[in-house]
Amino acid sequence: MYYSDHLIEEVRTKNDIVDVIGGYLRIAKKGSSYFGLCPFHNEKSPSFSVSLHRQMYYCFGCGAGGNVFTFIMEYENFSFPEAVKLLADKAGVTLPEVEYSEEVRKKENKRMKLLEVNKEAAKYFYYQLRTERGRNAHNYLLNRNLTEETMQNFGLGYANKNNDDLTLYLKNKGYDENLVREAGLASFHEKHGTSDKFWNRVMFPIQDLNHRVIGFGGRVMGEGEPKYLNSPETMVFDKSRNLYGLNFARTSRKNHIILCEGYLDVIALNQAGFTQAAASLGTAFTAGQANLLRRYTEEVILAYDSDAAGEKAILRAITILKECGLTGRVLNLAPYKDPDDFVNNLGSEEFEKRINEAQNSFFYEISVLEKGYSLNDPEQKTRFHREIAKKLCTFSEEVERDNYLEAVCEKYHIGFENLRKLVLSYASQTGLAKPVSRPKSGLTSKLSPDDHAKKAERLLLTWLSEEPALYGQVKKYLAATDFSTELYQKVAKRLFTDIEKGEAEPAALISLFTDEEEQREVASLFNTRLGSLETKAEQEKAFNDIVRTVKKNSYASITASLGSDVQAITQALEGRKLLDELLKMNIKLP
Ligand code: CTP
Ligand code: MN
Repeated sequence: MYYSDHLIEEVRTKNDIVDVIGGYLRIAKKGSSYFGLCPFHNEKSPSFSVSLHRQMYYCFGCGAGGNVFTFIMEYENFSFPEAVKLLADKAGVTLPEVEYSEEVRKKENKRMKLLEVNKEAAKYFYYQLRTERGRNAHNYLLNRNLTEETMQNFGLGYANKNNDDLTLYLKNKGYDENLVREAGLASFHEKHGTSDKFWNRVMFPIQDLNHRVIGFGGRVMGEGEPKYLNSPETMVFDKSRNLYGLNFARTSRKNHIILCEGYLDVIALNQAGFTQAAASLGTAFTAGQANLLRRYTEEVILAYDSDAAGEKAILRAITILKECGLTGRVLNLAPYKDPDDFVNNLGSEEFEKRINEAQNSFFYEISVLEKGYSLNDPEQKTRFHREIAKKLCTFSEEVERDNYLEAVCEKYHIGFENLRKLVLSYASQTGLAKPVSRPKSGLTSKLSPDDHAKKAERLLLTWLSEEPALYGQVKKYLAATDFSTELYQKVAKRLFTDIEKGEAEPAALISLFTDEEEQREVASLFNTRLGSLETKAEQEKAFNDIVRTVKKNSYASITASLGSDVQAITQALEGRKLLDELLKMNIKLP
């Protein structure tokens, strides 16, 4: 169900972003933009900006950004077509029943179909749980202290004992058997034909941020192996980029998110009033998930199982959180095994206390280390101190490192100067403690080479979209193909064409993408800011740096992938010539 680009543009231009967002939030004019408290993360001072001129919003705190469609999608948990519909109604634009754009993508259709079949399956399981056949399953859930309301809230269900019921049901509804298999709901065996993947299990539908069912987890009732069976990854279910319960947690408006291990932990915590809980889906916590969390919070409280495996998982999660710029704290569940167990035994108030007492991740790491040494032995004590020093080296910021140094010395009764010397000696060996250099052109930050390249590309796109006149000077040197990813190339291509036509509008460009992730990324392409560059000379230098960086990276990647293909070599030589020219000349800002 896709509308034409033209129609989408009409709906967008008839909905002024300041009016629309102003209807949801209090925003006040400040300079050329409007500012307010960001609805997508918890904050006390406004960093959410809405630009009348650009018809876009951007949060400097959490990075949420986009046009009027993405705002509605995020705020109302709507899909793209739903957001279009709402805004069309608002502006009195009549939408045709179904209209296909030139770019109807088979892929998008398949995604829709998969989501649809998952939804049907979830409905079927839900219904089964409430029939006579589902009585055992229902009792199982009641015995686990879940209320009817909670079961309903999480859409819990039951896959009954027959191993082809769901498939038959879905086929009767007109869904193709292949689609059912592709959704991971059924599997095919040479001997027995197609059979349901899940049977005789309580079912946990897994929802994405927009509450759409993307997969399932099924638990045996009582003992049995495997305890949980999960949907395989599909086109709509990427385990490393989703978290169970995040659809609720993200709007909980707490200043942290509680990360746990299991489905039932999230559910029990919700029932106990802690809607800020989420769980990684039977896989180890990933950087993709950490980045997802970073949109909604700065602090993650780890509430993993209190056993050896949990401890290992916590240490790994701490490293990931840190790399992604999130603060971690560790919640102590003793003497209980997991959050579900804890709240069922001690209740919400006690859990709230444990949240407040959750230990800073650095001290947690140190206390795990400590267990490996017997501190009565001077030799072992020394080794323990060395390990602490090593850990301290992982703080790149001096102030932070010193603060931890001081705190750890106090806690473990270590002489401050002694430990400091140890840290410095490690730092000089490993070079870890280099102070972060001050960014000058906005490009010199501690990003990986890949991120570095992409940042330059984003800066360039933002800059050109704000000063389209500059395009004339760079167009000889730069083509859309100089950008490093398919998405960036697509955006650059369109932006350049639009500039040529004299109608560059980033806000319009976002609607070319229907996937929420992609829209978010495109929005960020046009919201990348340089640090404060005061003088024109500084700005000019930065701009030239950026253009050169983009071209250099492009040239490097072309030559890296060069085979013996004559055409490619010619292209590379051409690129070299342009690059040399570019390095010598200076683009003037208007
Ligand atoms: N898990 C899984 N497959 C398994 C075991 C576990 O996918 N065979 C995942 C599930 O998401 C599960 C989580 O890991 O929720 C944590 O596992 P575990 O601690 O064993 O289960 P609990 O969540 O505590 O479940 P329960 O309370 O029902 O025993
Ligand atoms: Mn449990």
